[in-house]
Amino acid sequence: MKKLIIINGPNLNLLGKREPNIYGSLSFTEFLDEVKEKYPEVHLEYFQSNIEGELIDKLHDVGFSYDGVILNAAAYTHTSVGIGDAIKGIETPVVEVHISNTFAREEFRHQSFISPNAKGVILGFGLQSYELAIQSFL
Ligand code: DQA
Repeated sequence: MKKLIIINGPNLNLLGKREPNIYGSLSFTEFLDEVKEKYPEVHLEYFQSNIEGELIDKLHDVGFSYDGVILNAAAYTHTSVGIGDAIKGIETPVVEVHISNTFAREEFRHQSFISPNAKGVILGFGLQSYELAIQSFL
């Protein structure tokens, strides 16, 4: 059984309530329940934190034993050398995801410290971006 984890960064705990015109009105737990039902062959874990160091600690925890990480580092995508370095330092491949098309938004969202270290990048498909990332590991 493939062991995957979705790691979500800051403010993504507010999904469903936060700027629904951009991020949709489904909460992440509702979405996760649907996905878990759809992919019973996958061991799928979920972790969310608003704290940069906790995201780095989680990458270290899973990064030598899991088959894949699906990472939406949210705002830290555009600022965090530390998360970029953590991905370089682990063995588990990381797929970067974003709900919105960050390239169609403000200029500061075009920069990513994750992308150069990621196996691939999926963005702009709403919550389906996460599902496409799961499929990429299967
Ligand atoms: C996001 C895009 C980021 O620019 C933003 O800071 C987020 C969410 C997305 O999934 O579209 O919080 O990562």
